[in-house]
Amino acid sequence: MTAANQTPVRIDNKRLAARLERLSQFTEPGKPWERTAFSDLHVSAREWLVEEMRVLGLETEIDAGGNLIGRLQGTSNGLGTLASGSHSDTVPSGGRFDGALGVIAALEVVSALRDAGHRLRHPFEVIDFLAEEPNQYGLSCIGSRAMAGELTPENLEFTAPDGTSLAEGIRRMGGNPDKLNAPLRTKGDIAGFVEIHIEQGRVLEDAAEDIGVVTGIVGITRIAVDIEGRADHSGATPMGLRKDALVAASLMIAAFDVQAHQDYYAPMVATVGKLDVHPNASNVVPGRVSFVLEIRAGQAATLERYHKWADWTIRTMAEERSLVARTRIIGQSEPVAMDTDIQLAISDAASASGYKYRSMPSGAGHDAAHVALIAPAGMIFIPCLDGRSHCPEEFSDSEQIARGVQSLVDTLIALDNRQ
Ligand code: GLV
Ligand code: MN
Ligand code: MN
Repeated sequence: MTAANQTPVRIDNKRLAARLERLSQFTEPGKPWERTAFSDLHVSAREWLVEEMRVLGLETEIDAGGNLIGRLQGTSNGLGTLASGSHSDTVPSGGRFDGALGVIAALEVVSALRDAGHRLRHPFEVIDFLAEEPNQYGLSCIGSRAMAGELTPENLEFTAPDGTSLAEGIRRMGGNPDKLNAPLRTKGDIAGFVEIHIEQGRVLEDAAEDIGVVTGIVGITRIAVDIEGRADHSGATPMGLRKDALVAASLMIAAFDVQAHQDYYAPMVATVGKLDVHPNASNVVPGRVSFVLEIRAGQAATLERYHKWADWTIRTMAEERSLVARTRIIGQSEPVAMDTDIQLAISDAASASGYKYRSMPSGAGHDAAHVALIAPAGMIFIPCLDGRSHCPEEFSDSEQIARGVQSLVDTLIALDNRQ
């Protein structure tokens, strides 16, 4: 990876751990770890990230999509940018590593290059993508979608419970929604993007392997469902006269689960993780229920088939109970393949260090899935304890992290050396 006359570029695991720890301190008091997108904490965490970038000599900007970018100039003119990053927001009551690791690792790449006096030929960008997790506007991967030109005018009007629009949210984070009608980066602009992330599953841990070379990222469809029944007195309304929206929603959710277990759909997953009951009172028959059905699969045809079945199921189950059901797609991303040259560069880097690696698909969504639409993109996974993620128990130890981040640095240097 390193030419004979060059100092090896080695990451400093203590510095990396200290930055990860500092970022994790931007959390809602009493419910670690929570730094949801667009919150004051998210804004403060990003102010700290900007400072870290400036200390490292990076030029910083927030692009129109609200992505925070730190840029290091390269030594050659006219080359596309190499980039690495992830997201600094978390799910509610999430973990310390999902997203944060990828942003801090990209900063560590810059620090390690500086320590070794190694200048890249290509410009290099550290990117903190805006709002990767689903948030109060209902849409995930907002910054990376914006970068790829996928945010629609309809998306920008998505509204949070506080009445603000996504366009206003992007503006609050320093972006410019008026400039989102085209991709922020065109093909060729980014020569290679590599994101490091905890696996969020237990494949690597079970196999005692160090590095996952991601082959592709699942497609995700999220459908907002509203079931309209009738609110009535829970004591005075006989069972036969009810239009209970929650009972209907519960039966639908059970059906989604049974269907997703069928072999002919495998591999796919379906989840209802968000549900609101109105008026949500113990002595009122629930008059309205809203939930989000999320479907994920590695094959577009599987997603489509299950989606059609779910639409039909929602409609017929609601009609059988004289309820009204409305559905609206609030997020859709196609399954995408990672760039094969980048996969090769990652596996070469891992094997040169003697790390055990495997190629594997990602069941989680990532910003890399959207970047892949406009640039060659790849991902490095590292093992995480018990495969836990999106919960406070999320954990990877410092050796696992070090192996992943060293592989990231080595991969980027290999990409930089390509002719
Ligand atoms: C991102 O965390 C996802 O939902 O997969
Ligand atoms: Mn996540
Ligand atoms: Mn993530």
